[in-house]
Amino acid sequence: MKLYIETMGCAMNSRDSEHMVGELGKVGYTPTSEPSEADLILINTCSVREKPERKLFSEIGQFAKIKKPGAKIGVCGCTASHMGAEILKKAPSVNFVLGARNVSKISQIIKQDKAVAIDLDHDDSTYVFASQAPSSIKALLNISIGCDKHCTYCIVPHTRGKEISIPMDLLLKEADKLAQAGVKEILLLGQNVNNYGVRFSTAHPKVNFTTLLEKLSQISGLKRIRFTSPHPLHMDNVFLEHFATNPKVCKSIHIPLQSGSNAILKAMKRGYSREWYLDRITRLKTLVPEVGISTDIIVGFPGETPKDFEDTLDILEQVRFDTLYSFIYSPRPLTPSYTWENKVPKEEASAHLERLQSRHKEILEQKARAELGKTHEVLIEKIAEGVAEGRSGNGRLLSFEAGGAGVGDFVAVKVVAHHKGSLKGRIA
Ligand code: SAH
Ligand code: SF4
Ligand code: F3S
Repeated sequence: MKLYIETMGCAMNSRDSEHMVGELGKVGYTPTSEPSEADLILINTCSVREKPERKLFSEIGQFAKIKKPGAKIGVCGCTASHMGAEILKKAPSVNFVLGARNVSKISQIIKQDKAVAIDLDHDDSTYVFASQAPSSIKALLNISIGCDKHCTYCIVPHTRGKEISIPMDLLLKEADKLAQAGVKEILLLGQNVNNYGVRFSTAHPKVNFTTLLEKLSQISGLKRIRFTSPHPLHMDNVFLEHFATNPKVCKSIHIPLQSGSNAILKAMKRGYSREWYLDRITRLKTLVPEVGISTDIIVGFPGETPKDFEDTLDILEQVRFDTLYSFIYSPRPLTPSYTWENKVPKEEASAHLERLQSRHKEILEQKARAELGKTHEVLIEKIAEGVAEGRSGNGRLLSFEAGGAGVGDFVAVKVVAHHKGSLKGRIA
């Protein structure tokens, strides 16, 4: 039997999809890239903003039209979690709904027509998912499920439930298995990775994220460790010093800002101030001058004034992020800000987004220019027609002639040119 799976949203959804492919493999499904050939079509959804959610129903319609007679359609992921049975009502061609926190139930639910499994208290944190051989030298590893933070704009706590860490021995076993299968780089996943160890569902020795990084870096086959997302609030000095000194921990980090204004950060319930954020950045840059920093910013949060937005631009100028993911605030059901009346007009939010992104583009151009002549250690991720592509530890994406080098090799690459922010190099 054939399985087609479409994955939207973040890396946690990608990992959940891998788990579903693994679990369904045990009961006879093999993946296909052609939905019309599939016996089972899964849509792994994201609901962090309104647009992808709206797209879902047109997508279901498309699949219903082209699917094989008798093929089933399942809606999984974050939209499944919070809409539940409403999806079955709105889209009768859907056979079942499986929430983001209920992934381990996939092999059972496919047998039950019109079933809905969206229990937010379900706990998959000790479940050992069937896995497939890794398809690349990079792999994803979930270290926690859920989120306890309740930022006032964010639906994730309502789709993934409360935060529970995955026991460390399970993680070490899985990472070791991945390394033995040829994985060189792992990306640790969680909504607040540096809050790791605060709650487990079974008795567990006291650990924190730094301990986990330390233990993982003892696995000899693993060469690089990355993680996403850490929360600025939990970036204490011990963590930053470990980040700086552990040679296997890549020197690139995502530090979600959301807003540069204290009033807006407070309304968002982010738990930190702009001063704390900048203090952490200064400390980090002192410890790791070459660090690559990415961030998320929301513009047009309810009540955001032009002055608040200027405060965000000011942080952009001070930090000069290497990557910026920026979004217009999207009101999400179940979140406190959904009903607030002080919404920012759409045109104003769009104009601010445009300003933020175009200024960031200029910064990226300057940063790319400053890269000329620098040499990076790059892990080759793919080679197509003799051109290799890979990242430096601090997150720069480089392309260069592969020569005799292969996927999974570390090579020293000198930056020789740049075009629209992307870097071209030569093996040094
Ligand atoms: N746990 C991560 C974020 C996960 S959601 C963190 O705390 O940073 C990914 C990003 O989507 C967020 O960082 C935020 O910038 C954006 N986002 C979340 N809810 C949003 C909303 N209602 N409107 C617009 N962007 C949103
Ligand atoms: Fe959402 Fe905030 Fe949790 Fe991130 S920390 S997932 S933004 S509630
Ligand atoms: Fe990820 Fe989207 Fe869910 S960002 S956690 S898939 S709402």
